[in-house]
Amino acid sequence: MRITGTGHASMRIDTAAGSILCDPWVNPAYFASWFPFPDNSQLDWESLGDCDYLYVSHLHRDHFDAAHLKRFVKKTATVLLPEYPTSQLEDELRDLGFTSFLKTKSDEVHELDGGLKVMIQALISPTDGPIGDSSLWVEHDGVRVLNQNDARPTDLTRFAELGHVHAHMLQFSGAIWYPMVYELPQAAKTAFGKQKRDRQFDRTWRYINDLHADWVFPIAGPPCFLDDELWQFNDIFGDEGNIFPDQSVFIREYAAVGGTNGVVLLPGSVSELTTDSCATTHPVDDLDEFFEQKEAHLKAYRDRQQIVLDREKASWSHPEIDVLAGMKDRIEPLLDESVYLAKGVGGPVRFDLTDPHGEVIESIVVDFPGKEVRPAADEKVRYRFKTERRLIEHLLYLDEGDWVNSLFLSCRFSAARIGQYNEFVYAFFKCLSEERLQYAEGWYESQRPDAEDIVMGGWQFQRRCPHLKADLTRFGIVEGDVLTCQLHGWKFNLASGKCLTSVGHEIRSSRAE
Ligand code: FES
Repeated sequence: MRITGTGHASMRIDTAAGSILCDPWVNPAYFASWFPFPDNSQLDWESLGDCDYLYVSHLHRDHFDAAHLKRFVKKTATVLLPEYPTSQLEDELRDLGFTSFLKTKSDEVHELDGGLKVMIQALISPTDGPIGDSSLWVEHDGVRVLNQNDARPTDLTRFAELGHVHAHMLQFSGAIWYPMVYELPQAAKTAFGKQKRDRQFDRTWRYINDLHADWVFPIAGPPCFLDDELWQFNDIFGDEGNIFPDQSVFIREYAAVGGTNGVVLLPGSVSELTTDSCATTHPVDDLDEFFEQKEAHLKAYRDRQQIVLDREKASWSHPEIDVLAGMKDRIEPLLDESVYLAKGVGGPVRFDLTDPHGEVIESIVVDFPGKEVRPAADEKVRYRFKTERRLIEHLLYLDEGDWVNSLFLSCRFSAARIGQYNEFVYAFFKCLSEERLQYAEGWYESQRPDAEDIVMGGWQFQRRCPHLKADLTRFGIVEGDVLTCQLHGWKFNLASGKCLTSVGHEIRSSRAE
């Protein structure tokens, strides 16, 4: 089996039974904040994209690069699709021209032509990626690899029970905005950053020890930041609180805990993997020297990409958009429907919108208890975000339904909060669509031991639709003994509990007393 490094979380896996291209990412993501490190734009993407299978782990923009997929990846490739609750990943890939899909079942091994075996484990809680993250296990000719990607399963038991894994690829670096964007004294920021960096490594060691693979490949980060405004986030200043350590730091830290089997892949590195060996060649003569010259690499990369950055930035302003009205339209209907997320946030969240010089020109509150979006008053808020108005204009212009997979991951904001981190704030802002919000609400509901029933039309049945968990007090209609959920039109026979639209998906139902 041959593994070719193609940058960040991306790799190409070649076997005698076919090739799998994973998560190709080249164009900057999240308001042009993140670029792949090292630069992978010079690779021969025409050849790399001529693959038999494509695996896109999830929809985060450093894994799903629509423009790149459209231009370089052969549309004859069969997509290995994770089993996600919503069809968004499939829909977006179909929009790009892909037509062949293998819809995998989570945690089930699928045997493909030539004895190639794959298994994708899909994680589906509202906190996993953009509602969904996944890992890919591959076996051919006795060689097994796990591309864990940046997924965070509770453990790796399901993979371990399929036999000894020879290569384990996993994330080790940061991929978040904490703590850099928080308005804290520098000393506190450094202390929190150091804790975060240590925790990232501890988690990585735990996963490595779960699997005991022969070889460990640090992947899925760090990104690099080429815009001058974000340059300080690159780990080139000897800052122990920087959460984006690179692969050379991984090798050093791993050695400190006794790890000797780390393999770094640069874009263009090739590892030939067998059941008892891993021989790797690199596109540079000296790997250590490459990382010692990191700052020079980044500066030259920045010069090459300046034109891309300038073009992106020029596209963000839409002064004709009324941001307050746009946020009201987008958010208020969802606030109205939200039970768990709104309650979880528990207070108002303020957006201070600035001009390009940093002056606040408008303040808008998303009032979770009051279920409205309104101009900010002189009031205490749970969270406060400060960002350029033009970024919100652009989100509204694009009709963006996931502000985590755009604004927050861009790190182009600052934040302050009262009290602890609140996962519901970010869960809500990644669910700015009916389908996602209903899914997240239903997921939280289903975590309750006493999942609720409702009574409607003489029947008692579960409140959440067995399909994608829509709230049936809003979307359900009962006619006779048939319940229709209007979110996607699925029907259920309440007498038998059977779903009339799809196999499985039974509903808990009985005649009302
Ligand atoms: S959530 Fe899809 S039909 Fe109910």
